[in-house]
Amino acid sequence: MLDIRYELTNARKEKPDSSALGFGRHFTDHMFLMNYTEGKGWHDARIVPYADLSLDPATMVFHYAQEMFEGLKAYRTPDGSVQLFRPEKNIERMNRTNDRLCIPEIDPSDALDAIRALVAVDEEWVPSLPGTSLYIRPFIIATDVQLGVHPSKTYLFIIILSPVGSYYKEGINPVKIYVEREYVRAVRGGTGFAKVGGNYANSLIGQRKAESLGYAQVLWLDGVEHKYIDEVGAMNVFFVIDGKVITPTLESGSILPGVTRASCIELLRSLGYTVEERRLSIDEVVDAYHAGKLDEAFGTGTAAVISPIGMLDNTDEKLIVNEGKIGKIAQTLYNTLTGIQWGILPDTFGWTVKVKE
Ligand code: COI
Repeated sequence: MLDIRYELTNARKEKPDSSALGFGRHFTDHMFLMNYTEGKGWHDARIVPYADLSLDPATMVFHYAQEMFEGLKAYRTPDGSVQLFRPEKNIERMNRTNDRLCIPEIDPSDALDAIRALVAVDEEWVPSLPGTSLYIRPFIIATDVQLGVHPSKTYLFIIILSPVGSYYKEGINPVKIYVEREYVRAVRGGTGFAKVGGNYANSLIGQRKAESLGYAQVLWLDGVEHKYIDEVGAMNVFFVIDGKVITPTLESGSILPGVTRASCIELLRSLGYTVEERRLSIDEVVDAYHAGKLDEAFGTGTAAVISPIGMLDNTDEKLIVNEGKIGKIAQTLYNTLTGIQWGILPDTFGWTVKVKE
C-alpha cells in the first residue's frame, strides 16, 4: 500500500450544476502530489487541498515540455458506489510514456493506490446524472530549475479531478471532419504512441484550421506519405467498410493505444464482428464510399467515448457517412461501454474496479 499523508480541507467548494458541466472546467477540493528525486525515488505521497503550484520560472517543464499525462474516469453506479474503468491500462501506458520521455517509472500499484485514494476523498464530487462522470487527470512534470537540455533529476506527479459531462457540444451526435493534408500529428519514431502534452500542442493548428472552416475536428494522416489514416482529432478512429470494422494498426508508433480503442476491439470481436487492425488509406475509404460500402466511421476516446463521423471533407469531395446519422455499430459500442462503465450492464469482461473495496 502506498503510504499517503492526508491534509484535508474543511473549506469545501460549491459543486457545479451536473446538467451543465462541460469538460474540464471544474475541479474538486483535493489533489494528489508525489515528488521524485534522483537517488531517492518517488517519495512524499500526499493528498492536499486543491491549490496553485508555485514553480520557479526556470522549471524545466516550461521550456522543454518534459511532461506526460493520462486520462480516465470514475463513474457513479446505480447502487451509489464509484468505479473506475480499466485503470491498469492507463497506468501501463503512463509508464510507456514515461519511458519515451526519460521520466522515471512509477510503481503501477502505487499509481492505482493514489488514484483510488484521491477519488475516495473527493467521492461526493462524482456526479450521478446520466452521461456524467469524474474525469481523472494524472500528470508528471519535470521540476529541475535550470535551462540545460537533459532529463530532469526531479519530478512532480500530480492527480487532479474534474466532474464532466460530454466532451463535444455535439455529444453523441455525428460531427463533421476535415481531412488534413498539410499538418501532421505524429511521425514514426516520434511520440505519437505516448500521451504527452506536446502532441496536443502540435495538433492545435489543425484543430484551429478545421474549426475556422466549419468542422469539429481533423482526420490526421500519417506523417510520411500523408496517405494512411492515423487518428481523428484527439481520438482513435474506426471505419466500418462492407460490414468489417477497420482501425489503424498501432505498429507505426504514431497512434495512441487508446483504452477505449482496445475495449471496442474486444467488445466487437466478442459480438462476432470482424475487426482488422491494419493500415488504412484515405483512398480506400473514398473508394469504399463510391462503392456504397462505407457503412460507418467514428472516433473513440475516454473523454467522448464514441464520436460518430457524419461527414468527411476530403478536399475535393464531401463524403456523407450513413446519411449523417449515428450507425448501428457506433450505437452498440456506446450503449455497451457506457452501460458497463456506469454499472448498468453486467461487466462480463472484468473491466471495472471499485474505488472502495
Ligand atoms: C480522450 O479521448 O480521452 C483524450 O485523449 C482527449 C483528452 C486529451 C481530453
